[in-house]
Amino acid sequence: MRKERIVFARGRRVYLRPLDKATDLERCTRWTNDPEVTRYLARCLPMTLLAEENWFDKQVGRENDFPLAICTSKGRHIGNIGLHQVDMRLGVGTTGTLIGEKAFWGKGYGSEAKMLMLAFAFRTLSLRKVYSDVIAFNERSLRYSLGMGHKVVGRRRDHWYREGRYWDDILLELFRADWEPLWAEYEATSRWTKVPYEMPVFER
Ligand SMILES: CC(C)(COP(=O)(O)OP(=O)(O)OC[C@H]1O[C@@H](n2cnc3c(N)ncnc32)[C@H](O)[C@@H]1OP(=O)(O)O)[C@@H](O)C(=O)NCCC(=O)NCCS
Repeated sequence: MRKERIVFARGRRVYLRPLDKATDLERCTRWTNDPEVTRYLARCLPMTLLAEENWFDKQVGRENDFPLAICTSKGRHIGNIGLHQVDMRLGVGTTGTLIGEKAFWGKGYGSEAKMLMLAFAFRTLSLRKVYSDVIAFNERSLRYSLGMGHKVVGRRRDHWYREGRYWDDILLELFRADWEPLWAEYEATSRWTKVPYEMPVFER
């Protein structure tokens, strides 16, 4: 019997659904052990199936963390996106995204998933501001966040150690007011053209 498809938020090319340990655990563990993926993430150590399972179990019943699976419109699970450490008193939260299927990088899936997650953050939870951070060499992720209206607000110098040297952590934040025009544009246009932005220039 075919499993019912659960949808939390639907976009044009992706939809978001709750993670399902029964179907997603091994796939997520494959992603969190792929050095080409984890070089961009805060956690880059080997992840056992048991550790990943513990992570899944910890999500159950947590009220300030919202991890979701990113699926293509055909139902292929290609990555995860989360809104974490939501503080309803301050009206803030932090986003994190991982497209684990590398063939799907750079094709707009991450941007659409993030738009849907931001709509949940701002329009359902009524947050004021969403944070994000990026390892300085992760140009794709930086562009992706800037394209959503994030602004660079600082950097923690020599924060991450990767590939034999330290790298800065770039801190970004997005106020709802800066995101609303992008959402209006996303809703109105079938071919979503994002507003132009400037890449920040960092000297090292
Ligand atoms: C970062 C990530 C979520 C972005 O999602 P994506 O679907 O690959 O990105 P998109 O196709 O939506 O494009 C994002 C932007 O990056 C640009 N981009 C794509 N490939 C790029 C590359 N190799 N280098 C620089 N920029 C690139 C795109 O052109 C787009 O910018 P634009 O709007 O100006 O055209 C995804 O690549 C990913 O999960 N990577 C591995 C893990 C990771 O880096 N997570 C984020 C940690 S902060």
